[in-house]
Order: sequence, then C-alpha cells, then structure tokens
Amino acid sequence: SQTWLVVPAAGQGRRMGADKPKQYLRLADQPILLHTLARLHDAFPDARLVLCLDDDDHWFAPQWVPFNDWQRVPGGCERMDSVLNALHAIEAQDDDIVLVHDVARPCITACDLHALYQAVATHPGGALLAMPVADTMKRADAQGLSARTEPRDGLWHALTPQGFRYALLRRALETARHQNTLVTDEASAVEALGERPQLVSGRRDNLKVTHPDDLALAAAIMTAQID
Ligand code: C5P
Repeated sequence: SQTWLVVPAAGQGRRMGADKPKQYLRLADQPILLHTLARLHDAFPDARLVLCLDDDDHWFAPQWVPFNDWQRVPGGCERMDSVLNALHAIEAQDDDIVLVHDVARPCITACDLHALYQAVATHPGGALLAMPVADTMKRADAQGLSARTEPRDGLWHALTPQGFRYALLRRALETARHQNTLVTDEASAVEALGERPQLVSGRRDNLKVTHPDDLALAAAIMTAQID
C-alpha cells in the first residue's frame, strides 16, 4: 500500500516572535522547512507528500520540495483542520499509512522515522514517537503557584511523526471536529475513539522549534547528528 506524509505547516508560530512563520527561519543557512522535508525524503523517498500551507504564505518556494509526488493544500484554523484538509484532498486507500509530522521538527532522524513506521504497520491503533517525562511535573493554580505535583509515572511527551491507517485517522479527526473537540495532536483524536496508539520511544533531540532560543539548539543538534 501507499505511504503518505502529511506536513502541517500553516501555523503562525507566534511564540517565535519573528517576522515570518517559523518554518522559514534559517537553520545552518537553510529554511527549517527545507531541512524537515529533506529528512523525510531521505527516509521515505517514494512516499507522497501533502503540505498544508496558508493561502497567504508568500515565503514558500516549490523548489524546496524533494519529493516527485507532492501537493499543497490550504491550512485550516487549527492544526487538526489543516491535517483534515490534507486527508480530504488525497485519494488514499483505507489501509494506506499516513504519517503526520510537524514542519517545525527538523531534527527528526531516519532511524526514528523507520521505527515509527514499523510500529504503525503492526498496531491497529497506530503509533507516535514519544519520550518519557524526565522532570517532576507541577500543576499550577490560577496565580501560577505550584498547587500540586503530578505523578510522572507513565507520562510521556507526544512528539511527531504520528502515524495511522488512513481510514482511522480520518474518522478520528472528523469525529473530533464534529464534536467540537480541539485536539493538539492526531493521537488524542484516535484515543477518543477508544483506540490505543503505540508509544514509540524516540530520540530526545526531536525538538519542536517553538521559542527563539530553540533555533540555536536545533542548529547544534543537527551539527552533532551529522558528525
Ligand atoms: O503551533 P505548533 O508548533 O503546535 O504547531 C504544530 C504544527 O502544526 C506546525 O508545524 C504548524 O505549522 C502546524 N499548524 C498548521 N495549521 C494550523 C496551526 C498549526 O498546519 N492552523
């Protein structure tokens, strides 16, 4: 069956405080988006790419896309709307594998991508890259005071990619939208259907570039990965 890569890249990246969306900021002299697509292409050269981009996006350059088979779809209000736009735009088979990966995670490695893919292929509920929580977790009250400590046992950070069979992912996101539930990742929509995505322990350096100081960190990670 076919493998699809959905890359939501229609966010504003406001926490970055830059003059353009964060995927166009430069990392080692190339836009973040280019790094991310290159890494995905290295791992899955024959996959089909769907890129969710804002209609007003005038920074994007098609020559940055290394895939032969790719299409651009408009972004939606929320990340889940962008991903749903992608799922509605493609003619996929129900059991095709769809991997969704944040454009803002350029440090993703081929090793993690392949491990995730294997898990998606074998688990009916799909799978996501994730990382066990290392820090002690605090619950804040309305004043920002530490009200209590959450047990961190069994707590994971959800990373991307997250992958599912096409039919399951589409049903999950359509259900979430229908019920007006805002989900911040695909796995939460799938869990709401009663499915149990597999947590795949991923590298700790699969950073999501979110805040300004993440740029230097991502650049250092990429250099270390190449060496
Ligand atoms: O804002 P955050 O970093 O959580 O966004 C995660 C990913 O979702 C980013 O790659 C962003 O471009 C994408 N996104 C999107 N459409 C939106 C909001 C976010 O494609 N409406």
